[in-house]
Amino acid sequence: MAAIDAPALGSGIGYRPQFRADLFAHRDQIDFVEIIADHYLDASKEKLDELELLKSHFPLVAHGLDLSIGSAEGVDSRYLDKVAALIERIDPPWWSEHLCFTRAGGVCIGHLASLPYTQEAIDVVARNVEFVRRRIKTPLILENITCVVRIPGGEMDEPEFLSRTLEATGCGWLCDVANMHVNAMNFGMGPEGEFECWPWDRLVQMHYAGGRERNGVLIDSHDAATSEAVWTLHDRVVAHAPVKAVVLERDERIPPFSELIDEVARARMTMVENGRWR
Ligand SMILES: [Fe+2]
Repeated sequence: MAAIDAPALGSGIGYRPQFRADLFAHRDQIDFVEIIADHYLDASKEKLDELELLKSHFPLVAHGLDLSIGSAEGVDSRYLDKVAALIERIDPPWWSEHLCFTRAGGVCIGHLASLPYTQEAIDVVARNVEFVRRRIKTPLILENITCVVRIPGGEMDEPEFLSRTLEATGCGWLCDVANMHVNAMNFGMGPEGEFECWPWDRLVQMHYAGGRERNGVLIDSHDAATSEAVWTLHDRVVAHAPVKAVVLERDERIPPFSELIDEVARARMTMVENGRWR
């Protein structure tokens, strides 16, 4: 059974203002757009106008950065109110956040920090998701992140932690295949070997992106073309599970828009070949 009863959106892109003009000039080649929620929470009139323009040309989903769904101290209700207002404004079929924490002890740490893979952390996330749901009815899906270090004291591996968290919260999954690849490479596991362990029955959306290697460590830097290794994983996931939407993330070193269109088209082709998109 699908994690969320929502329409398929196809092959989209994460919106960045740097390619705004190109995006509108090629709008027939982009099925939908993912916006960064945080860019519109304390928005100027200019940003709100941009949002209306995006909304009038594309189906939208929102992707949040700073909800900190894994904070033991709970979710910041003022931040949540702003996200709720945004979700009400754009009315997406779902919205997403990272399975991580970004605040601790009242301090914003400015980074997506990995949670310990423990039952206690799952209970915290479940409690916070319940709190969020009372404010926002639109389905929330959670994304797997890259981790710089594994927190000691873990009681399970990442696929089990994610699976049990999604089970406990009832949330769908935003599978970032680039993050999955980065963690697999940096921690010496092959995503191929443990492929079956991930919660495919919860899959709703995907992210893919290019990164780079620094000092022998893969970084999820969103500043390069998607690697063939990530494409291989992307294609395998699309073939394996009924994904509704895939999104290209590119933040730095943005190339000519035609190169981004080529990646979006390649992702769409895989969706079409596997009956995930028309
Ligand atoms: Fe991502």
